[in-house]
Amino acid sequence: MDIVRLGPDDTTRFLALRQVMFEAEAINFRGAGVDDDAIGLTAWRERLARDHVYAVVEGGEWIAIGALTRLSGIKLDHKGLVWSMYVLPAARGTGAASRLLNALEDAARAMGLRQLQLTLMADNPRARRVYERHGYELYAIEPDSVRRGDGSYVGEALMWKRL
Ligand SMILES: CC(C)(COP(=O)(O)OP(=O)(O)OC[C@H]1O[C@@H](n2cnc3c(N)ncnc32)[C@H](O)[C@@H]1OP(=O)(O)O)[C@@H](O)C(=O)NCCC(=O)NCCS
Repeated sequence: MDIVRLGPDDTTRFLALRQVMFEAEAINFRGAGVDDDAIGLTAWRERLARDHVYAVVEGGEWIAIGALTRLSGIKLDHKGLVWSMYVLPAARGTGAASRLLNALEDAARAMGLRQLQLTLMADNPRARRVYERHGYELYAIEPDSVRRGDGSYVGEALMWKRL
């Protein structure tokens, strides 16, 4: 199992895996494939050039992805946002999520960030467990934050970790 940092030339493959992720696990994400499409390829290429986006690789296949974005703003750039955490079903429980979170945290520390934040659906205990294991704390739940495809609303759990 290797971990690699992705760049702009990986954008198409990264977005294809995100489409798979949204189709297979729509209930676990605040975003959707149509949101990705609306951002457009050029902006995505810029994101992959600027942000820290990683893939865990096994036998040439990307089995997991995760990303870190530093917040912009003179009063906010001590914070990093962890996003797009996804492990292919067959690779769950193998440590890929931990590899990603460790790499993202190393990158955050190298940038001098003070804290990391992330969100997850309030009814996703597996993801919450992984983040807790890595030292993230739940600090709030935003009620009815996300409207799902079936019209139901779900809370969003907000977690953070001081570095
Ligand atoms: C969330 C995700 C990235 C975690 O990766 P993973 O490889 O499954 O994580 P791990 O197997 O290392 O850890 C899962 C933990 O949850 C626990 N767990 C599994 N099912 C659980 C449940 N229903 N309730 C509580 N804990 C659960 C496991 O026991 C394990 O904890 P442990 O290491 O203390 O035993 C992956 O499951 C995934 O991609 N899920 C779908 C997409 C998603 O939810 N992404 C996160 C969006 S914020």
